[in-house]
Amino acid sequence: MCAAWGLCCPSGIVMLGVLLTGLLTHLADSVYISLQPKDNITILIKPGDVIPPPSSCYICLSKTNCKSTTLEIRPGMTVDYSFACSTPEKFYVMEIQKRIDCNTGLCPFGKVQLEPSGLSGLNRTFFWHVEAARNMGIELNFSTPWLSQIDPSYKCPDLITYRVSTSVGRSSINIGTFCRSGTVSRIKVQGGGVVALELPWNETWTESGFSIANRSSIRRLCIIESTFLSESFAILMSAHYPVGFPNDDLMTWQFVVPFHHSATVEFLNYTSPSCDRKDERVEYYLPNYKYNPEVLPLDGKQPANIVGNFNLSLQNCDLDSQNQQGLTLLFKVTVQQTPTQGTRIYNIDLTKEKDITVNIKQRLLGTTCKICKAQMDCNEEFTMTGGAFHRISFLCYDLSVLMTTVVKTIACWDLKTCNINNEPLSIHASLLQLPTQVEITWNLVAPKHISTEIASSSMKLQQAVSGKPCNSTDLGFLYNIVSSDNKSNFQIGTFCPVGPIEKVQLRDNVTITLSLQSKANISHLLKQDLRVSFVSRIEEECIITVVPAPDSTVTLQTPNWDDGLPDTVSVSWNIGMPAKQFGKLAFAKDRMDIMCETGRAFINIKEQKSSGPDIVLKDYDTFPSSINLFYPFWFNITNCKPKSRSQKLQIQFSVMFTQTKSGLATILIAAGGAIAAVIFIIGVAVCCARKKKKEKKSPVGIYNANVKIELSKRQRMQRKGRKQKESHVYAVIDDTMVYGHLMKDTSGLASPEANVDVYQPFQGPMGEAPPVPPLNRISKDKVNEDSFASSIRLNEFYSFTKSEFNEPVEHEDTSMMAEQGNGPVVSA
Ligand SMILES: *[C@@H]1O[C@H](CO)[C@@H](O)[C@H](O)[C@H]1NC(C)=O
Ligand SMILES: *[C@@H]1O[C@H](CO)[C@@H](O)[C@H](O)[C@H]1NC(C)=O
Ligand SMILES: *[C@@H]1O[C@H](CO)[C@@H](O)[C@H](O)[C@H]1NC(C)=O
Ligand SMILES: *[C@@H]1O[C@H](CO)[C@@H](O)[C@H](O)[C@H]1NC(C)=O
Ligand SMILES: *[C@@H]1O[C@H](CO)[C@@H](O)[C@H](O)[C@H]1NC(C)=O
Ligand SMILES: *[C@@H]1O[C@H](CO)[C@@H](O)[C@H](O)[C@H]1NC(C)=O
Ligand SMILES: *[C@@H]1O[C@H](CO)[C@@H](O)[C@H](O)[C@H]1NC(C)=O
Ligand SMILES: *[C@@H]1O[C@H](CO)[C@@H](O)[C@H](O)[C@H]1NC(C)=O
Ligand SMILES: *[C@@H]1O[C@H](CO)[C@@H](O)[C@H](O)[C@H]1NC(C)=O
Ligand SMILES: *[C@@H]1O[C@H](CO)[C@@H](O)[C@H](O)[C@H]1NC(C)=O
Ligand SMILES: *[C@@H]1O[C@H](CO)[C@@H](O)[C@H](O)[C@H]1NC(C)=O
Ligand SMILES: *[C@@H]1O[C@H](CO)[C@@H](O)[C@H](O)[C@H]1NC(C)=O
Repeated sequence: MCAAWGLCCPSGIVMLGVLLTGLLTHLADSVYISLQPKDNITILIKPGDVIPPPSSCYICLSKTNCKSTTLEIRPGMTVDYSFACSTPEKFYVMEIQKRIDCNTGLCPFGKVQLEPSGLSGLNRTFFWHVEAARNMGIELNFSTPWLSQIDPSYKCPDLITYRVSTSVGRSSINIGTFCRSGTVSRIKVQGGGVVALELPWNETWTESGFSIANRSSIRRLCIIESTFLSESFAILMSAHYPVGFPNDDLMTWQFVVPFHHSATVEFLNYTSPSCDRKDERVEYYLPNYKYNPEVLPLDGKQPANIVGNFNLSLQNCDLDSQNQQGLTLLFKVTVQQTPTQGTRIYNIDLTKEKDITVNIKQRLLGTTCKICKAQMDCNEEFTMTGGAFHRISFLCYDLSVLMTTVVKTIACWDLKTCNINNEPLSIHASLLQLPTQVEITWNLVAPKHISTEIASSSMKLQQAVSGKPCNSTDLGFLYNIVSSDNKSNFQIGTFCPVGPIEKVQLRDNVTITLSLQSKANISHLLKQDLRVSFVSRIEEECIITVVPAPDSTVTLQTPNWDDGLPDTVSVSWNIGMPAKQFGKLAFAKDRMDIMCETGRAFINIKEQKSSGPDIVLKDYDTFPSSINLFYPFWFNITNCKPKSRSQKLQIQFSVMFTQTKSGLATILIAAGGAIAAVIFIIGVAVCCARKKKKEKKSPVGIYNANVKIELSKRQRMQRKGRKQKESHVYAVIDDTMVYGHLMKDTSGLASPEANVDVYQPFQGPMGEAPPVPPLNRISKDKVNEDSFASSIRLNEFYSFTKSEFNEPVEHEDTSMMAEQGNGPVVSA
């Protein structure tokens, strides 16, 4: 081996203590070096730049031949030297110069040997002068773990440093200074170059760490290849950094990016040269990019989210020789993992949309997702507006941390001119294909005198109620409806697709938010048919129209569930009745669980026929266990102002629709003219002023007579927190009011509508429970719950209301109720 490399291993011969002068304190091991002529290696052992060797530290070739100047070992020479001190590494360095001729066919492709091997004890630098014709590029292939570039004035942590340089004209150009371990896998230099490898004195490395791989024209100063194997980044510098890139020269970086990863280029620092002619510029070849080469100014945004291999070239101008300002560039390439769908470019067509804003940002802080304008301009937040076409991509591994918020405003300031009637709440399909979470909000804005109607004729909605989530969650989308005036928001509720709710009318401004889970089925979503109309003002907070399917059970609950129905707010449900069916209404709990401070909270249930009786349930009532209804009916709730904030009015109820036959026995008892159903009336009903107005009856008793007139405007329907002077206004009407229409309709009998067959006189044997005489006005205070409940249980059918007022109830008459016949049946 030794002979082959023209070198010999250290002899290890110890020069036994012959001290020539008193200055020599120690003679270290001697080193024997023999260089073969054909190897073209020259070794210089010379004093380092740092500390000049002291007189006690000479290089000695023999006992008598010691000096402190450079020792040059040329090809063909054999030398045996030693130092006269124990720490020569502090004062001497070694340079090993080797010429490699690649001008001819002799160019030794393949691994470059570190020779002579076995050298150690001094800081040493191996120089390989690879000679090539001016137009010839030499490819230096570095072995793994490759290299990382550093500023030439910095040191590598392990002090093992590569410097690659070349010469342009007479001057040497530093291509770069590198440490071990990085992304720089290959460097091509035009016209030959010098590779220098610096090793510290105690390093015993035996590899040069590179090979000469090819020889071809590259037509530029150099090409630096950076290969990424996984998520990482590389800092790179222009040639001859920081002095300045050569005049009118060109260099290229090639980047190898792995699958499922994308790269971002970021210029950290640059200096623009003073140019005589032409401009300096950077030029990209990007994968799957139709505008290649993309030429960009140094001060522009650089590409991001580059999926696949790409290259970047730096072109200098004709420098102004008078000016010292050179071209430098320091940049960073970051490679991130991206899921395949993130690296796509998404075309978002908002050209036909107006009053729309689309914002994409991270839901969580501290993640590193970016949204890019096409592939260029990446930011942590991105906003698009209507009337334009947008191309975006994502630089993000976990796209689920991104949230797209679409806000569309539909406004109507004048019913006559705005002409918004059944306008679809459509979603542009390009927004739905985004791989992020998507939330779409429609702001329906109108002045006070205009209300909003949201209708769905084919899809329809179901309400997500407490304890009973929607059965359509697999469709992956739901709507949240919030009504708001200037002061407060009022949660109408969460609604899912496919259900019985056909229409929701809302008095105030409305915000409808469509939340899409990532698994949302787009084909279903595109079928959603919510439509919005602006209508003249309604007085209730909201009116919900429910059209149940036959044999279904509909469960509904009061809006603003979590905080309870706000003070004095009214909500109405208009509940339809499938043909030849009846509905059995049941409450989730048996009372309202609130105590009113002002006014009364009440539920008013009434079939929608002129003669239909009212069922009024008030805050202190125990609810019946079920109520049977035979016609489309209203279910209206009005809250009072509860005594304490902690009391929340939360009413959940369900209506089970079944064939009338199953309920026949009960109905017959209720309907039969012969046998009167017993109506259990306790106390006085409460009704509101608007109702009075509608039904053209005047109040018998008014809670606050002073504000009677105000009442008709129903201004008491305020939300929590809305303090108004009239907030305590309540009309309390006694039983006559509630039953007034019954009296009027005494003669009227059943209305000749559908379901008439149900109400035909009963002909068969009677049910078990004979009616019990009415118990008039059993106040809650007087009757304990148990006996009250059991009395109800004994008697199967009641329609009842209760009151805390003990005024006489003139017209209360059970026989009348019996005549009424087909009224709602309440069972306890
Ligand atoms: C050898 O290298 C070390 C580390 O870079 C340095 O501190 C020392 O001064 C060098 N020795 C000489 C003689 O240059
Ligand atoms: C050594 O140098 C001579 C003169 O420059 C050259 O002709 C020869 O090819 C070189 N040998 C090698 C192996 O590079
Ligand atoms: C570069 O060197 C490595 C190992 O040293 C080798 O596997 C690879 O094939 C070489 N590449 C080229 C292009 O020669
Ligand atoms: C060389 O010496 C330095 C301290 O001077 C030490 O940190 C380093 O680990 C040594 N390197 C080797 C390869 O022994
Ligand atoms: C050398 O480079 C040329 C041009 O780039 C290329 O065609 C050839 O395949 C390369 N040869 C090797 C061995 O890499
Ligand atoms: C950018 O370069 C200038 C000039 O070379 C230097 O003064 C400055 O410190 C550099 N800034 C950074 C962030 O590297
Ligand atoms: C840069 O990339 C383009 C497209 O892949 C290729 O045509 C061109 O040769 C590359 N240039 C260099 C210097 O690698
Ligand atoms: C959900 O339940 C309703 C009845 O409550 C029914 O009409 C509807 O078909 C159901 N939807 C799904 C997806 O099961
Ligand atoms: C609805 O919003 C508009 C615009 O902000 C406002 O002028 C109007 O008063 C709001 N309507 C209600 C009922 O608060
Ligand atoms: C809401 O505020 C707007 C002005 O900001 C005002 O014109 C409108 O009357 C207010 N509406 C309500 C209901 O207070
Ligand atoms: C979406 O729904 C359609 C129609 O029900 C169905 O054919 C399709 O498979 C669904 N797609 C997904 C991804 O669930
Ligand atoms: C319930 O509210 C609706 C809508 O405001 C109204 O038309 C209906 O008369 C009310 N019914 C009762 C019984 O209060």
